[in-house]
Amino acid sequence: MKKPEIYDPTQENTQAPDAELKASRRAFIKGVIATGAVASSSGFLFGGLAGCSSSKSPAAGAVERLISLNVNGRVRRVDVLPYETLAMTLRYKLGLTGTKLSCDRGECGACTVVIDGVATYACSTLTHTVGGRNVRTIEGLESPNGELHPIQQAFMDELGPQCGFCTPAQIMSTVALLEKNPNPTREQARRALSGNLCRCGAYDHYLNSVMRAAEVA
Ligand code: FES
Ligand code: FES
Repeated sequence: MKKPEIYDPTQENTQAPDAELKASRRAFIKGVIATGAVASSSGFLFGGLAGCSSSKSPAAGAVERLISLNVNGRVRRVDVLPYETLAMTLRYKLGLTGTKLSCDRGECGACTVVIDGVATYACSTLTHTVGGRNVRTIEGLESPNGELHPIQQAFMDELGPQCGFCTPAQIMSTVALLEKNPNPTREQARRALSGNLCRCGAYDHYLNSVMRAAEVA
């Protein structure tokens, strides 16, 4: 009968009982890494190739990135990410920085634009949802010869703004209000602008502006 091999750490020609196991484990791990690398690189390779061929026919459920936006009466083609907000598109893709971004979560109203006649927070609207709709921003109000819109002029005449940061949004809310109700009461105007915070607290000035705009617009 074969005598069991005794492990003697002082002897070079003997092996720790688990040395063979460790060696085979090492070989196994190396194999897994190699296989994984091949698998992931082939995934990249074939995914990439698949991506090339799918550029002609987007995968089911994929969102078309290049869309047409009607902004201030002009159709613009824009490359839009699936979860991009209208505020981001207007400011950073179309350069319409009159639409401000402040809280970026539907609390302050600084990003208000008018979509199909309704005052809307652009920071809480996905750009993909407004393709084909009529988007208006503060830049679209003045006439082609640079004359201020009567509502803008009324805000100036009443010295409505202080720092001016919230002013484009206050004006766009006023546009939506007066198009629907040209002769609002002060209380109706207050309610229409209640979604627009003003850090300077110029609320009374803005209400005076709205009432003046209602007279002249
Ligand atoms: S930035 Fe849109 S609500 Fe504040
Ligand atoms: S005028 Fe300064 S935030 Fe409104």
